[in-house]
Amino acid sequence: MEFLLTEEQQMIRKMVRDFAENEVAPTAAERDEEERFDREIFDQMGELGLTGIPWPEEYGGIGADYLSYVIAVEELSRVCGSTGVTLSAHISLAGWPIYTFGTEEQKQKYLRPMAEGKKMGAYGLTEPGSGSDAANMKTTAKRDGDDYIIDGSKIFITNAGEAEIYVVFAVTTPEKKHKGVSAFIVEKGTPGFSMGKKESKLGIRSSPTLGINFDQCRVPAENMLGNEGDGFKIAMMTLDGGRNGIAAQAVGIAQGALDASVNYAKERKQFGKPIGVQQGIAFKLADMATKTEASRLLTYQAAWRESQGISYGKESAMSKLFAGDTAMEVTIEAVQVFGGYGYIKEYPVERYMRDAKITQIYEGTNEIQRLVISKMLLAD
Ligand code: CAA
Repeated sequence: MEFLLTEEQQMIRKMVRDFAENEVAPTAAERDEEERFDREIFDQMGELGLTGIPWPEEYGGIGADYLSYVIAVEELSRVCGSTGVTLSAHISLAGWPIYTFGTEEQKQKYLRPMAEGKKMGAYGLTEPGSGSDAANMKTTAKRDGDDYIIDGSKIFITNAGEAEIYVVFAVTTPEKKHKGVSAFIVEKGTPGFSMGKKESKLGIRSSPTLGINFDQCRVPAENMLGNEGDGFKIAMMTLDGGRNGIAAQAVGIAQGALDASVNYAKERKQFGKPIGVQQGIAFKLADMATKTEASRLLTYQAAWRESQGISYGKESAMSKLFAGDTAMEVTIEAVQVFGGYGYIKEYPVERYMRDAKITQIYEGTNEIQRLVISKMLLAD
């Protein structure tokens, strides 16, 4: 077993940390306050090769591994959870299914510009009436000659509005239930495809979340990913990796809150000495650091397994579950370490706390992760 990062992984960590601290952190609080997405940050990530980290060079990527990718999401999230999820949704939720199930033409047409950072990706699964029960979707896609006609709507779509390429799931054969779901690539600007409401959120406020609507939206059959009826499996397999991206986001948020807390605890004096050497705070910091490190190890392990081609669905559900709960706990404690200052917006920890909450909810609530883990345990 090897715990040292390779030279390439260390280099990617350093590059992303520098970028995050110099280019992302300075505007994080302001973008959060204004609920403003900054496309320039995404463009810069494209220039650095981050938008295509795990994809081979032939598809515009930099050919690194999934561990490098989760390190990048972690480092971005350490300063801005919104920027972390932008990259995670782009790579794991939109890029991965195209890379894994796409034809050569689909990869050249869609994955390449996404990997190069020229186009952004999004994933459309959730609907107003189907969140955890994803198979119960109502959006339909009816075959019509060489096309499919999509009707319905999706909600809570990360990157929507900004993204040019959407991986969307729709029912092609209703009587077959989940076996009648198919996956499509839909481009922004396709007639009948429009953006819905932009949500105003508790956290990750500079990551856009919108509904998307399909009204007689005609998509060529060649835009189907995999075969008719493969959609639900594609959606679930995509989430296996996506969940580890969210775990990485949670690790980054927890680490950011921990770093801020340690620095503050060294400087802030009460009763004549730094609060960090007083046991009430010192023990909090120790617990926060231990849980963050355990989350990181679970996340890196799942990413390593994916890179090695070993099953990683259970491990990703575990990493998201543990890291999401840890991020919530650590950020609540960070606010406590800062006391009254933690509650005001001049300090970053209240933002970390608000950003952490979503990691327990999206890409499958942590209750769903427990369901996934227990199903796999019992099936072994
Ligand atoms: N890989 C491959 N196949 C899988 C699979 C996986 N991980 N999980 C399930 N399947 C297959 C099963 O093997 C089964 O196949 P067969 O019919 O051939 O036997 C089929 O899918 C149905 O499986 P289940 O009976 O387990 O399905 P279910 O309807 O009971 O649902 C569930 C299972 C785990 C609850 C699933 O619905 C789920 O994951 N729900 C949560 C949805 C979710 O995570 N949504 C997130 C939205 S995206 C998002 O949040 C993005 C963002 O903003 C960033």
